[in-house]
Amino acid sequence: MHPLEQLRDDALREIESAHDEQSLEAARVKYLGRSGTVSAWGEQMKTLAKEKKPVVGKLLNEVRNAVTAAIDSRTQQFRSQKETGALDKIDISLPGTPHELGALHPLTQMLERSIQIFRRMGFALADGPDIETEWHCFDALNTPADHPARNEQDTFYLPDGRLLRTHTSTVQIRTMEKTAPPIRIIAPGAAYRRDEIDATHLAQFTQMEGLYVDEGVSVADLKGTLEFFFRELFGNDAKFRFRPHFFPFTEPSYEVDIKTSALGTGDRWLEIAGCGMVDPNVLEAVNTKRGDRAFDPEKYTGFAFGFGLDRLAMIMSGTPDIRYFTQNDQRFLAQF
Ligand code: PHE
Repeated sequence: MHPLEQLRDDALREIESAHDEQSLEAARVKYLGRSGTVSAWGEQMKTLAKEKKPVVGKLLNEVRNAVTAAIDSRTQQFRSQKETGALDKIDISLPGTPHELGALHPLTQMLERSIQIFRRMGFALADGPDIETEWHCFDALNTPADHPARNEQDTFYLPDGRLLRTHTSTVQIRTMEKTAPPIRIIAPGAAYRRDEIDATHLAQFTQMEGLYVDEGVSVADLKGTLEFFFRELFGNDAKFRFRPHFFPFTEPSYEVDIKTSALGTGDRWLEIAGCGMVDPNVLEAVNTKRGDRAFDPEKYTGFAFGFGLDRLAMIMSGTPDIRYFTQNDQRFLAQF
């Protein structure tokens, strides 16, 4: 037997009997390391007679390959043993740690449904800032300085004279400032009032504003639009009442009452929205600001409406107290 073959057999035996990664590494260094036995043979090659070189060289290559392969496969064995060992400690039949699935807040659900219905009627989304000028919140909306809504007790004013908008009707003005008719928009968003907080009032609530301005828009369009919307929301058997009311920025103005079996409110009328035909003074305020006659009241008419999304969400979800919406109580939220 050639001494190289002897070397190979010794190496393979040692690799085979290595009982851990450390002893395997020791064997690798011993045979394949820079000053290992196999490498030493490589050095010796240089001193061999010319005719012996091919034979010994070939043998040396075979030995090196065999030893390398043996080390690789033993390494692989150790690795998979380790993995099985780790898995042994895990009982895969145990139930996992459940991840609780969230759901959309009832207010968000109401918001998304409402937007979807108005989209189908061709209304686009619009918005404006929560911090507003008095002009956008009141003056442009035909609400004079002595109007009760402008009372410091009712509104959050900032030191610089701006305020937290008391309604989303500001977006009517903001939209008309930068677009010409026809306009058909809805604007959902936050509104703020210095209300005493109770079961039906928060200092911040959510409104949905609507504005439609074009040639020949009438009260019939207003009624048709709102009745369609609320029927989609609450069911086809809903009955409506448009009660004359007053808003500074619409003329005539109405409050909308609804009665429907779906709400489980019995035979009671429920007030759900304010609306009316855009007051010509509002169109003129916008014209003045724009410096043109884009909203000439002789040519254009429009309707506007606004309703509280929190209130609708409360009715739809049977929530008795609006404060539940902001308390983040899992026991409440998990029901939706
Ligand atoms: N802005 C009114 C409110 O907050 C609602 C409304 C909007 C009324 C548009 C008429 C037209 O009560």
